[in-house]
Amino acid sequence: MSLPCLSLSDGNSIPMLGFGTGTAWFKEDPGEPFNLKLVEVLKTAIQRGFRHIDCSDIYGTEEEVGIAIKECGVARKELFITTKVLEGLYGIPTAIESSLSKLQLDYADLYLIHSRSIAKDLSDLGQAWLAMEKVQALGKAKPIGVANHQRSHLEEILKVATITPAINPLEFHPYLQRSHYENYLCWMREQGIEVASFNDLTPTRKARPGPLNQPLAEIAAKYGITENAILIKWQIDQNVVPVTTTSNTSRLSEYLAALDLMLTVEEMEEIAQIGLTHHFRAWAPDRVDPDDRS
Ligand SMILES: NC(=O)c1ccc[n+]([C@@H]2O[C@H](COP(=O)([O-])OP(=O)(O)OC[C@H]3O[C@@H](n4cnc5c(N)ncnc54)[C@H](OP(=O)(O)O)[C@@H]3O)[C@@H](O)[C@H]2O)c1
Repeated sequence: MSLPCLSLSDGNSIPMLGFGTGTAWFKEDPGEPFNLKLVEVLKTAIQRGFRHIDCSDIYGTEEEVGIAIKECGVARKELFITTKVLEGLYGIPTAIESSLSKLQLDYADLYLIHSRSIAKDLSDLGQAWLAMEKVQALGKAKPIGVANHQRSHLEEILKVATITPAINPLEFHPYLQRSHYENYLCWMREQGIEVASFNDLTPTRKARPGPLNQPLAEIAAKYGITENAILIKWQIDQNVVPVTTTSNTSRLSEYLAALDLMLTVEEMEEIAQIGLTHHFRAWAPDRVDPDDRS
């Protein structure tokens, strides 16, 4: 098993499978106690081969990630730590200091504006982006990027940017491919913006039953692998960086098995085409029009 990396437009690269510390690990109440189980699962994930860990100032899990990094036995420079700013959007210089302090790190391997949702005005995104550029200039973050940004938000940022956002994580899976809306993925890549994904496993989880269950089961049976692994590889093979998670260490090997899988062109296409017949948005569906596939 080798962990492939995706080159970013700024010359850095990102490991193509991430372990998320939101969702299953998210602390609804910031007063929740330190989560020792997360530290142990993270250490196991790193020991089994994960290198890319995904955090945010909103998840409440940066301290656990910091301890896992210290205790995992893998050198800091071998790891790729992403964190994001949401709560601190209007105070990015302070927000990055706070995140780095909790993570016990000098720099983040990737720093993202988590969402445009708390921006009071579209033009505030441009100002926030200029603050992100300063964070990078100070050496506090290597690549910088955004998450959950639609085309209009990126266009606002690109009006003022001197550094192009390196990546934009989005909910992305066969039922929400985003490509046929102004060919959004293509457009981002033309700007030099790569794509990462979350809610990757939606067709096997939240959108079950759906038209892909049977085809995925058949492909999985052919390779003696799980449907989750097929979905992860389907993303990697189109240069989208999947970020998944688990609270259950037995699922780690299932996810990592995707890296040794070779899907045929026909299987990739079958998943894409069947996926396009069914629209499903798992994350914050109430924030967008039900027919909006962007
Ligand atoms: N940028 C953003 O705004 C944003 C938004 C959402 C998420 N994220 C990031 O992406 C990460 C992953 O998000 P996600 O959790 O939505 O990803 P996902 O990869 O779609 O789902 C992972 C979850 O699927 C569950 N699962 C997998 N196989 C299962 C099965 N056979 N039966 C039952 N449950 C199964 C796992 O549960 P178990 O825990 O039981 O294994 C795990 O919690 C987050 O932790 C976060 O870091 C970012």
